[in-house]
Amino acid sequence: MEPSQHGDYLHTWMNYLQYKFNYYIAWKTYAGADSLFAQAQAVRPLLYVGDISIMKLYTEMQRALPYDVVPITEDNYDTVREVFDTNLEFLVEGYGKLVEEKGVLGAIAQLPDGFNPADKYLAAICQKGKAIAAVDLLGNSPTKNELWLSFLVVHEDLKSSGLGAQITEGVVCAAQMAGFTKINLGSFETTAAFWEKQGFTQSGANDNFLTFYRSLQ
Ligand SMILES: CC(C)(COP(=O)(O)OP(=O)(O)OC[C@H]1O[C@@H](n2cnc3c(N)ncnc32)[C@H](O)[C@@H]1OP(=O)(O)O)[C@@H](O)C(=O)NCCC(=O)NCCS
Repeated sequence: MEPSQHGDYLHTWMNYLQYKFNYYIAWKTYAGADSLFAQAQAVRPLLYVGDISIMKLYTEMQRALPYDVVPITEDNYDTVREVFDTNLEFLVEGYGKLVEEKGVLGAIAQLPDGFNPADKYLAAICQKGKAIAAVDLLGNSPTKNELWLSFLVVHEDLKSSGLGAQITEGVVCAAQMAGFTKINLGSFETTAAFWEKQGFTQSGANDNFLTFYRSLQ
């Protein structure tokens, strides 16, 4: 084996071990993650660096926020239903026909064409066993090492209490720790000021849909 090949081989093993380690930690920490991970596991290539960052995102989100962060699956959807029920207008506006056709869970579980399911991070933020908010993040989207924040929804009863800002800061912190370089998102004009207050800068506009980013470097 050439010395350079030896280095590649070692590097591959290090990646593999790190991936296994992070997977183990995430699995131990999040009992509810089983089916999401099993689903992702079935389609993921064995050594996909993106997986490592998403696993790390799980652990870092838990660390960054003083709440339980639980992956949303079909099995626990009932516990977060209320958060979405109090935000139906936003979801219908954002997901339109998809909500009609597939219901809210079907719509939010939808992946962009060709997207690796292992890079999807759909989580409920819970306090004392009750969901208070939900967040959907897509790792390595639109490009590798960047994160797309698909949505953040806060339970209607808790809006304007600083929770949205606190969760956003948690996402920023966790994304940084997980090695992402930038967070991107789309927003309606009605919430543009919220994102600006969270340190995001507008990058584009299309009718009333605006795009924002925050660099993590
Ligand atoms: C947008 C949303 C996440 C904000 O969460 P929140 O918990 O109500 O917001 P916070 O209380 O943390 O507000 C933080 C700051 O942003 C401001 N803010 C909140 N929502 C705002 C809005 N729609 N427009 C302008 N400013 C807003 C607050 O006044 C506060 O300002 P301050 O720091 O000067 O006091 C929440 O209203 C929500 O779930 N909306 C429906 C879903 C949605 O539109 N999500 C965003 C797009 S994906």
